[in-house]
This record gives sequence, C-alpha cells and structure tokens, in this order.
Amino acid sequence: MKTYGLIGYPLEHSFSGKYFAEKFKKENIQNCEYRLFPIENIQDFENLKQQNIAGLNVTIPYKEQIIPYLDELDEHAKAIGAVNVIQFNNGKSKGFNSDYYGFKDSLLSFLPTEFNSKALILGTGGASKAIKKVLIDLSIPFKVASRKEGFDFTYDELNSKPEVLSDYHLIINTTPLGTYPKVEEKPDLPYQALTENHFLYDLVYNPSETAFMKAGSAKGAKTINGLEMLVGQAEKSWEIWNRK
Ligand SMILES: NC(=O)c1ccc[n+]([C@@H]2O[C@H](COP(=O)([O-])OP(=O)(O)OC[C@H]3O[C@@H](n4cnc5c(N)ncnc54)[C@H](OP(=O)(O)O)[C@@H]3O)[C@@H](O)[C@H]2O)c1
Repeated sequence: MKTYGLIGYPLEHSFSGKYFAEKFKKENIQNCEYRLFPIENIQDFENLKQQNIAGLNVTIPYKEQIIPYLDELDEHAKAIGAVNVIQFNNGKSKGFNSDYYGFKDSLLSFLPTEFNSKALILGTGGASKAIKKVLIDLSIPFKVASRKEGFDFTYDELNSKPEVLSDYHLIINTTPLGTYPKVEEKPDLPYQALTENHFLYDLVYNPSETAFMKAGSAKGAKTINGLEMLVGQAEKSWEIWNRK
C-alpha cells in the first residue's frame, strides 16, 4: 500500500482528502491511500518521514515552517517561499509549490491570448506570493492592494480614484472574503468602474459564484472561481509524486 497524505493543523475540512479518495476510485488506482496527518507541531514531520510515505501535501499553518525540514526546494517553491507538496525520493525530501502550476494553467485558459493589460492582486498572504510569481513568469505587470499601508494601493485609495481600475483589466482576489458562510462579503472596490474588458479571478471556490464575481458579472466582466486552480494543484501534486 502506498500512503499519500496531508499535513496541517487543524484538518477538519480537507478538499485533498476527498479529492484523492474519489480519484483513486474513479481511476481504479489500486493500493493507494490518502491520509490526513493533523500534526500539532512541525517537528512531528521528522516522525512522519520515518513512516515510508510516498508523498505529502502541506497546508496551513506549515507551508513556510516546513522549509527548514526539507533537503531540497524546487525553484518556484524557493522563489515563492512556500511549499504545499513534498516528494520523497531515495530518502530525500523535496518541496514544491503546486498552487503556482494550478493557477498558471487556469489563468492561461481564462485569459484571451491577446491579453495586454495589467493585473491587480488583492491581498498579501501566502497565496498572493504564488500568484505574483506566476504573473512575473508570464510577463504580466501587476500591482498589489492591501488593507495595510506600504503596498501599491489601499482600498481607500482605489475607491477615491475608481478610474485607476481602467489600467488593470485583470483583478485577482487572494483574500478569503466571500468564502462560505460569509457569502455576502467581497473586497472593497469601486465595482462601478468595471467593464466588459475586465477579467475577475477569485481564488475562493465556495460558493461557486462569489459576491466578487457577481459584482463583476453585473458590469459585463468575465469571471472565474478558484476550483480549476484547486483541482490543478491537486493533479500537479500527483504528477510530482509519481515522477520517475
Ligand atoms: N483555489 C485555490 O486553489 C486556492 C489556493 C490557495 C488559497 N486559496 C484561497 O485563497 C484565500 C487566501 O489564502 P491565503 O493562504 O493567502 O490566506 P492568508 O495567508 O490568510 O492571506 C489572505 C490575505 O487576504 C487579506 N485579507 C484577509 N482578511 C481580509 C479582510 N477581512 N479584508 C480584506 N483583506 C483581507 C490579507 O491581506 P492584507 O492584510 O494585505 O489586506 C491576507 O494576507 C483563501 O480563501 C484560500 O482558501 C485558494
């Protein structure tokens, strides 16, 4: 039996647990299991390493804390500073960031090939760092909005100059605003400045149409939720674990 799994704490609602159980069944993948390892302390990773695990996902709060425990980092994980996939190979552990790949593939299929504008990233947390690296690699110029001073825009600045949004046709929500059950919440933007030339990417996937997406659609903008990215990062994990 090959054991894959997820480390984090707490681990009550895990998308990955359900996703891989269904994948193994649907694709008739034999002798594989995906287990949840809710470890209270990152040092417990040392014990897990001894248990002959085939591959791990990493979630909150360990995406950054895991790094010193790994033997190697892939270049994107290194640049982003966060790991959500661990590959084990001949006793060596290597960290990857599959959010990077999940977002990149999904963004490329969402945007028209002739997209030629700038992006605005909302939020400065862990996911925002992976999104920034993708935009750098795709040569899409971007700015960042935060509740805090010291970034490109605060939400107050955007609201006092709505016309700024005409320079940013791609707007990416990396904040948790709008996630079930607080489905009425959305980032504090001047939505009236959106047009049919805008593309709104929400990393939130529950509900499937968020308040942010609804406000964009009402002005004719194209919208996408975070489900494709989520599935993409899970499939990338599987590919990384099974690389020869
Ligand atoms: N679809 C996917 O595959 C995928 C992958 C990763 C993450 N996600 C989702 O993306 C979201 C962010 O994840 P994360 O790991 O980056 O979380 P995080 O590290 O907690 O960061 C979220 C950022 O959002 C901003 N924020 C938080 N609360 C806010 C509020 N009440 N109002 C306005 N801004 C707020 C903050 O930035 P400022 O302090 O700068 O304002 C914060 O740093 C979560 O909903 C997560 O589920 C989805």
